[in-house]
Amino acid sequence: MSLNLMGGGDMWYLCATILSLLVIVGAEDPYRFFTWNVTYGDIYPLGVRQQGILINGQFPGPDIYSVTNNNLIINVHNSLPEPFLLSWNGIQQRRNSYEDGVYGTTCPIPPGKNFTYILQVKDQIGSFYYFPSLAFHKAAGGFGGIRILSRPQIPVPFPDPAGDFTVLIGDWYKANHKTLKAILDNGKKLRFPDGILINGRGPNGTSFTVEQGKTYRFRISNVGLQNSLNFRIQGHKMKLVEVEGTHTLQTTYSSLDVHVGQSYSVLVTADQPAQDYYIAVSTRFTSQVLTTTGVLHYSNSARRVSGPPPGGPTTEIDWSLNQARSIRTNLTASGPRPNPQGSYHYGLINITRTIRLANSAGQVNGKQRYAVNSVSFIPADTPLKLADHFKIGGVFRVGSIPDNPTGGKMYLDTSVMGADFRAFVEIVFENKESILQSWHLDGYSFWVVGMNGGKWTPASRNQYNLRDAVSRCTTQVYPRSWTAIYIALDNVGMWNLRTEFWARQYLGQQFYLRVYSPVESIRDEYPIPKNALLCGRAKGRTTRPL
Ligand SMILES: *[C@@H]1O[C@H](CO)[C@@H](O)[C@H](O)[C@H]1NC(C)=O
Ligand SMILES: *[C@@H]1O[C@H](CO)[C@@H](O)[C@H](O)[C@H]1NC(C)=O
Ligand SMILES: *[C@@H]1O[C@H](CO)[C@@H](O)[C@H](O)[C@H]1NC(C)=O
Ligand SMILES: *[C@@H]1O[C@H](CO)[C@@H](O)[C@H](O)[C@H]1NC(C)=O
Ligand SMILES: *[C@@H]1O[C@H](CO)[C@@H](O)[C@H](O)[C@H]1NC(C)=O
Repeated sequence: MSLNLMGGGDMWYLCATILSLLVIVGAEDPYRFFTWNVTYGDIYPLGVRQQGILINGQFPGPDIYSVTNNNLIINVHNSLPEPFLLSWNGIQQRRNSYEDGVYGTTCPIPPGKNFTYILQVKDQIGSFYYFPSLAFHKAAGGFGGIRILSRPQIPVPFPDPAGDFTVLIGDWYKANHKTLKAILDNGKKLRFPDGILINGRGPNGTSFTVEQGKTYRFRISNVGLQNSLNFRIQGHKMKLVEVEGTHTLQTTYSSLDVHVGQSYSVLVTADQPAQDYYIAVSTRFTSQVLTTTGVLHYSNSARRVSGPPPGGPTTEIDWSLNQARSIRTNLTASGPRPNPQGSYHYGLINITRTIRLANSAGQVNGKQRYAVNSVSFIPADTPLKLADHFKIGGVFRVGSIPDNPTGGKMYLDTSVMGADFRAFVEIVFENKESILQSWHLDGYSFWVVGMNGGKWTPASRNQYNLRDAVSRCTTQVYPRSWTAIYIALDNVGMWNLRTEFWARQYLGQQFYLRVYSPVESIRDEYPIPKNALLCGRAKGRTTRPL
């Protein structure tokens, strides 16, 4: 466990500062302290020098190890010459959207300043990651793995692996992130990326050492900017065990499609002759295929990797769609709690609302933009959550994005959709474009009940999996296809719904879902953190005493 212990004095000071908050976020649960320094530094992932975003000198950043219900106290010092924020992909921030670290919830950490995130990984297990959410920082690093282990008394549906590896894969540009941002700011599209990284390194740069005969867990997250990636290990099978916090039916695959923003855990047994094997990662659904390699190294290896790396799947969408449909929840396995994951019968709950969301690309004022239901999101001058809390008018309007595609002309707005606390919602993502889309919702995990090619109609509901669909936080939508999800809106707050296709996200393909309860109660939502940064029109206000 990388519990980042600080000096006693610091620790005492921090404890005193946050003690009252801990009472609310769960003082009975253990907490872990992290002190992070975010800097620019030289990195050479594809052989050329680049400006990278380092955390405590590391690229990728350090992993966060935690156990269900842990409180994570992460003091982030921003040593960049510009504002910075981290967000936590898949961490649900229950009743606590203030800590979400996206533009609409949290003020940027000013250059030279620090901010302490106070998170709780409440009722969660599984594999996730963090990333920088502002500007185009994600193209420079600043990301790292998050793992939430089960509490000791909760059974895990497979034996303890001999080792547990974080594998962050993603497409990568040799260009500086500011250059990429400037291209987007000028209303142009980005060209195809230059390569693929595995844990921040290019071809043959990463190796994982295993002992023959033992079984290892690989937690694979696609932290890239746009491309779906296929992951495979030469000569080895992968047993899928977990998807974004859900223990899956343990199905064996020889390769796995990981769409941008998604996380998967597989078990791999080192059951082959003692030598080294390629790990291959390649782009999917692209005319030009980028491939990179890493190495699975047997500790008693007699031979280095040689020859061509293993090829990926050659058939396109149907193969991937069938694989996606084969990924199911193990209903009898425990999740974060001892009761089986199948004890919540999502398929029997009546839908209270259907929302259809269509992505589109187009131009507004001669510049490239991307939209959801014709609205291309633009930031306001104040985080929406703070405007809501301080009741500052004129920052956003609830209802500034329609529930259904209108087919109308694209326009800019600070789009916020209202939703009732405790509603049970069906969202249909409709993708009429030829790209592969990947959608993520903060604050929640949702059931991916169906996906198929063509146009969704109410009759498509007959194909839904209402029994053992996986619950996760990021789902793909295949080109000219739809994907349907169910969500129980049990988490009050302001939640970002965004594409994980990062240039599209940056140019407006996102909005906020404001899950609202008229009852102001800390049972439903925690008060604004005492240490919350205040910016824009919230500047100078005071965070109310607890
Ligand atoms: C962060 O790192 C930079 C560069 O090494 C150093 O100058 C600065 O003092 C560090 N800040 C903190 C808060 O540790
Ligand atoms: C900034 O860091 C110091 C310790 O280095 C800590 O005492 C203080 O609470 C932090 N400030 C915020 C706003 O988190
Ligand atoms: C499902 O979980 C149970 C309980 O841990 C386990 O015994 C079983 O092998 C799992 N089944 C599959 C198909 O993964
Ligand atoms: C990776 O290593 C193998 C074996 O040494 C070598 O044949 C191959 O060319 C290397 N690939 C790259 C891209 O460097
Ligand atoms: C769902 O709706 C049906 C018909 O309107 C109703 O009979 C049933 O009791 C409802 N089920 C639940 C769980 O509320």
